Amino acid sequence: MNTTTKDDFDPIPSTRHRVQVSVGSLPQAEEETGALAVPVAADAEPPAELGITSAALATAGFTGQRGQTLVQPRAEGPVRVAVGIGPGREIDAALVRDLAAEFARAVPWHRRLAIEVPSSGLGISVADFAQAVTEGVLLARWRYFLGRDADRPTLESLLIVATDEDAEQARTGVERGRIVAEACSLGRDLANCPAATLSAVRMAEIAVEAGTASGLEVEVYDKDQLIAMGCGGLLGVNRGSAQPPRMVRLRYQPEKPAGRIALIGKGIMYDSGGISLKPSDESHAQMKNDMTGAAVVLASMTALRALDCTTAVTGYLMCTDNMPSGSAMMLGDVLRMRNGTTVEVLNTDAEGRLVMADGLALAAEEPIDAIVDIATLTGACLRTFGVEIAGVVGNDPAIVEQLRRAGEAVDEPLWELPLHRSYRRQLDSPIADLTNMGGVNAGSITAALFLEEFVDGKPWAHVDIAGTAQLPEPRAWRNKGATGFGTRLLIEFALRFARPPGVSS
Ligand code: BES
Ligand code: MN
Ligand code: ZN
Repeated sequence: MNTTTKDDFDPIPSTRHRVQVSVGSLPQAEEETGALAVPVAADAEPPAELGITSAALATAGFTGQRGQTLVQPRAEGPVRVAVGIGPGREIDAALVRDLAAEFARAVPWHRRLAIEVPSSGLGISVADFAQAVTEGVLLARWRYFLGRDADRPTLESLLIVATDEDAEQARTGVERGRIVAEACSLGRDLANCPAATLSAVRMAEIAVEAGTASGLEVEVYDKDQLIAMGCGGLLGVNRGSAQPPRMVRLRYQPEKPAGRIALIGKGIMYDSGGISLKPSDESHAQMKNDMTGAAVVLASMTALRALDCTTAVTGYLMCTDNMPSGSAMMLGDVLRMRNGTTVEVLNTDAEGRLVMADGLALAAEEPIDAIVDIATLTGACLRTFGVEIAGVVGNDPAIVEQLRRAGEAVDEPLWELPLHRSYRRQLDSPIADLTNMGGVNAGSITAALFLEEFVDGKPWAHVDIAGTAQLPEPRAWRNKGATGFGTRLLIEFALRFARPPGVSS
């Protein structure tokens, strides 16, 4: 069904094989798996399953420090993997996710893994523990690979060992973890997929398939419809492209919604910079991922029904590439956006805000409690926060705080930047309502001030994932390349969403 490109790569390979995650007993693990994780504290004797003393472990250099692993071969049965959990008994979900991932990485050739849920008193519920383990192992073993052997799964099964008493809770956690990890894998797949394979048209096709399969209503808007709707930002950026644009609207409608939110994702399938061409450096080579915002809006929404989310969510994917050509936008051109605002284009590489403007305006036309947009928007955000923290800016402290807390809960950290309105004058244009270029400094803030012009005063926050969309090195469950950052954040935000006081929609 690949109608728009010459190659036949599968853009979402991780959806082809499903890891079997289940809850079972220790004898089952002995029988059916190849590697069993055994948590070892730094200040206590190791559990009996290891059959060894802490002094003996220390002779191999293993002291139980956090993240340390030691693989112990056996004459029979699965290898034991001692996993250091550090001193003290208190652990949280982020640590469990990290350690489960370290275990999965310590035995890269084993495809059948087992982990035991420790006895209670760890400061984390059995369900949360099982969910974090499932996420950690599945995400650490995820890969995007188009070469030989691409079809061979990196993981076949994960067995969570729990007592009969804990089994029910563990199953709940496993199920949630699997849903969340699969959503995140979809986000990673899409962002890693080469731009020649994943055009805006193909992205919309995938949104229809994945969205419909997960109980969402999906509408796709083509170029003619976008013209009729007055989406001058998305159309302006698309002018230089040989590929047509697409806008996708996804709707998740629970029975009795406890609130309504809109999510808008930047879907620049490839950002060459346009006429303001980027130099051919490393950051340019990464620009196939400039659609991560759209990818993670789609990915997060595929999990909502399965997780029984009670918030109604509308998603907007703003998709086109940004290319230079004889028909491309020229510097000095003026675009009229969906809400009637005119924008003088002074740099065609500041294209993200142009496509997001139409999405924000469309979202603000509907009754809504909060608008959240997510975009690989500014190099300045990468410079400010590096690759582990995303920026958040908004006109509503409660929404910003809810996002920040959701990020904290899922270990996708956010840090707030000020919406400093005095900088708005940097966007003044002599011939239009505003320009798309701020000054040389505070680029992430002026970009947010641009976006604010399109939300019609509605409660809104903007998440800049320019830094976190990509990692140069793997770390625990975080892989090298496209990270899917934002998928788990948005799922958690939607699940927890509480209408801010005073907003009735
Ligand atoms: N997609 C880029 C932002 C980006 C840069 C993401 C590096 C990830 C890594 C965006 O479209 C862009 O080009 N922004 C410009 C804006 C400037 C021209 C106002 C930037 O940040 O340099
Ligand atoms: Mn750009
Ligand atoms: Zn861009």
